[in-house]
Order: sequence, then C-alpha cells, then structure tokens
Amino acid sequence: MGVSTLVITGASRGIGLATAELFAASGWRVLNISRSPIALAGAVQLQIDLSDPDWELTQAEELLEAVSGSDRLALVHNAGLLAKDSVPTLDAAHLARALQVNVIAPQQLNRLLLPSMGQGSSIVYVGSTLGEKAVAGACSYVVSKHALIGLMRSTCQDLAGRGIHTACVCPGFTDTEMLRAHVGADESILGSLAGSMTFGRLITPAEVAETIRFCALNPVINGSVIHANLGQVER
Ligand SMILES: NC(=O)c1ccc[n+]([C@@H]2O[C@H](COP(=O)([O-])OP(=O)(O)OC[C@H]3O[C@@H](n4cnc5c(N)ncnc54)[C@H](OP(=O)(O)O)[C@@H]3O)[C@@H](O)[C@H]2O)c1
Repeated sequence: MGVSTLVITGASRGIGLATAELFAASGWRVLNISRSPIALAGAVQLQIDLSDPDWELTQAEELLEAVSGSDRLALVHNAGLLAKDSVPTLDAAHLARALQVNVIAPQQLNRLLLPSMGQGSSIVYVGSTLGEKAVAGACSYVVSKHALIGLMRSTCQDLAGRGIHTACVCPGFTDTEMLRAHVGADESILGSLAGSMTFGRLITPAEVAETIRFCALNPVINGSVIHANLGQVER
C-alpha cells in the first residue's frame, strides 16, 4: 500500500488527538482540521472553522492540495459541538449551527474528498450514545447525532462497489474537555457519570481512538453503528 493519510476533524485535543497519535504511530500521514492547532510532530494543520457553512469557498483548494499524492484516505469526522439546549427554547440559528458542525461539515468533506479516495479508504463518523437515545437538555446535539447515523448509513449504500467502507463509532462518557465543559466545575458530577458505567470509570480518549482505528481499517465493519461506551447501567 502506498501513501496512507488520515484526514481528521477536531484533533486539536480529546478523542481526535488520541486518534491522530495512534495513526501517526503506525506511519500514516495526518491532516487535521480544526480552529486551534494539533500538537503532533509532522501533522499538517488546516485551520478551518467548520461552523462557517461557506468554509469551502476559501479553503477547499488547500484541502485538496494537502491530500494529493495519497493512495488511501481514512476520513474521520470527529469534530463536534455540544450545547445545552432543549425543545421549548432552541431557536433555528442554534440548531442550524449544531447541524452545520456535526452533520453538514462532514458531508461537505465527503463530497470534496471522495474523488481522492481510492479502494481501501474509509469514512468513520464519531457519533454518540445520544445518536440512538435522548437525554434532557441536549436537543441540538441529540438531533445532529441521530442525523449523523443516517449520513453514515447513506454513505454505506451510496458507495457500494467502490471499495470504501464506513461506520459510526458512538462513544459514551469520555474524559475530554467537551465532557468537562458540559458538566461544569463540580467534580462530583463526573464521579456520578463514572458510576453510571458498568466499569465504574470514564472512558479514555485512547480507548475510543483504538475503536475508530479498528473501524477505519476493517471493511467488514461497513454501515455499522459501534457503541464504545463501556456499558451503561440502565436505571
Ligand atoms: N467526550 C465525550 O464524552 C463524548 C461522548 C460521545 C461523543 N463524543 C464525540 O466525540 C467527538 C470528539 O469529542 P471530544 O470529547 O474529544 O471533544 P473535545 O475535546 O472538546 O474536542 C472537540 C474537537 O472538535 C473541534 N471543533 C469544535 N468545533 C469546531 C469548529 N467549529 N470547527 C472546527 N473544529 C471544531 C475542536 O477543535 P477547535 O476547538 O480547535 O476548533 C476539538 O478539536 C465529538 O464528535 C463528540 O460529540 C464525545
């Protein structure tokens, strides 16, 4: 196999950074798309704000240049926006912003990059437990993560015969800035989230990264929703 490139969104920290480190360690080129830079030697950084629906107009060319010369791409849609909002008050602008980052940007990247994706390439979506169930107070996130599973299933059907596979990895509570920002300063909340897992602890970003990598490299996982959540205790 010639040159293999990971194109990942949101690898400036958290699950994305752990995934980029894992691919880099096995010789993959890494191209990260986020607003702040990735701290990984040798990685290429494209500074793009995916909440801007028009980012393609100014940055598509740079992206295509950055992937040229690759024989195989693993495209990992990892960047995500988690806001506190709910059905009685969520307005159109806030819902549109969440959909832009969590669903529309992945499809913008799919359309741009598919012509550069040879056989053996893959598209992995990072969803959430909340892609298949809802909790109160996270409406735009729940809606967009459900939609992301639909996008993954369409990817599987629409790319049949092209030698490109896809999956949606759905993490549970993972110890990252996103989770910490969402629960706030009260450490006891993190403790109770950990207690809601069958292993009594939060997931590490590296554990999710291993799952993403497995999905990216194994075409038998195609059209699949893979829950990476350590088992959540149902109450
Ligand atoms: N942590 C959890 O418990 C958990 C659970 C289920 C699912 N997930 C999913 O896992 C994925 C990664 O989450 P994480 O926990 O690792 O979060 P994180 O540590 O907060 O990282 C989020 C990443 O997304 C990027 N991002 C956010 N908004 C962006 C924008 N407008 N344009 C470009 N990049 C943007 C951020 O980069 P910049 O800020 O530098 O732009 C950052 O690299 C997300 O899709 C999330 O929904 C996480």
